[in-house]
Amino acid sequence: MAKIAVLGYGTVGSGVVEVLETNAASITKKAGEAVEVKYVLDLRDFPGDPIQEKIVHDVDIIINDPEVSVVVEVMGGVEPACTFVKKALEAGKSVCTSNKALVAAHGPELIAMAKEKNINFMFEASVGGGIPIIRPLNQCLTADEVTQVTGILNGTTNYILTKMSKEGCSYDETLKEAQALGYAERNPEADVEGHDACRKIAILTSLYTGKTVKFEEITTEGITKISTADFKYAEKLGCVVKLLGTSRRDGDKVYAMTAPFMINASHPLYNVNDVINGVYVNGNMVGSLMFIGAGAGKLPTASAVVADIVDCVKHSGTNVATIWSSEKLELGATDDEVRSFFVRVKGDDEAAAKAAFGNIEVVKVEGIDGEFGFVTAEMSEKAYKEAAAKVEVINMIRLDKTVL
Ligand code: HSE
Repeated sequence: MAKIAVLGYGTVGSGVVEVLETNAASITKKAGEAVEVKYVLDLRDFPGDPIQEKIVHDVDIIINDPEVSVVVEVMGGVEPACTFVKKALEAGKSVCTSNKALVAAHGPELIAMAKEKNINFMFEASVGGGIPIIRPLNQCLTADEVTQVTGILNGTTNYILTKMSKEGCSYDETLKEAQALGYAERNPEADVEGHDACRKIAILTSLYTGKTVKFEEITTEGITKISTADFKYAEKLGCVVKLLGTSRRDGDKVYAMTAPFMINASHPLYNVNDVINGVYVNGNMVGSLMFIGAGAGKLPTASAVVADIVDCVKHSGTNVATIWSSEKLELGATDDEVRSFFVRVKGDDEAAAKAAFGNIEVVKVEGIDGEFGFVTAEMSEKAYKEAAAKVEVINMIRLDKTVL
């Protein structure tokens, strides 16, 4: 019998307990032994709940118990999670986490600690919730050089953008609705400003390059400036607007960005709607792959965490290698990235826009006055900025042309 401890009895923590109970028989078969939750660490008590008999308030009870072989960190945030995870690894306990902030900030250090102790540090649930994406990159695609990863990596913003697109609601109105439904936090900044998706693309890029991508160095823009007018232009262009975390190799450079993009119907992520996440991966041998599913939520996220627990139990005494060194990956400059841009400009001086941007395709939407939109030919971000300085830009959305 493998004894585990769960740090944090919130949505994911209670989901982990539920998955282990619901699927106990099949999990026992797959892990090779039964998995029992011995402790749950939480600041709170849960009187009347059967979990109460397992609740502890002091992490050292878990750390000092030699029976506990796997610690599950589902508290979120970098501290105290990082301190607790390090204590667990130092004590020879494998760790599974859903915490993308922790993994993005300390991934290689925690992976190295686990390797040294011949135990495991696993983090499948940290990106894409229930979607298997860490294990595919780490174990299934080892024959390939991954050339691109582009994903809808944040369910909250995908819900907001889908709703704005389909129902024509404003950003503020849709955010309030998402908060009322529990899809968006009361402080939605991490999601709507793109920080959450940025950390996730940093983790995925680190995994496929084997080096550390500093999330602070990824150009990141959120969705707060996207308006109903942008969606009307998008519709006219046969596009939708999606917040993408994207990174790709180009020669010896890797470029990464998190931003809203316009994508058309042939894009593999075009139909990934509501809170669903989707990740497109291209490998130089396998070609295009798509991973789609629930990117958040109690049971989907817990499913990924429990799969890690099973892997840790199955590989007790063996480190499953994760290639992610602390060597920093110098990202290519965003200014050098080349793509088309959708631009909205104040006024009606199409000639001035053509003089600044060259060959453009002008778009007008009935009912939107005092401005016009256009799509540029492919140009570098640097060239875009130089041209944009010559006109009065209302908003700009990049185009992504990934095809399956
Ligand atoms: N806030 C995140 C999202 C939760 O909306 O996708 C999962 O990381």
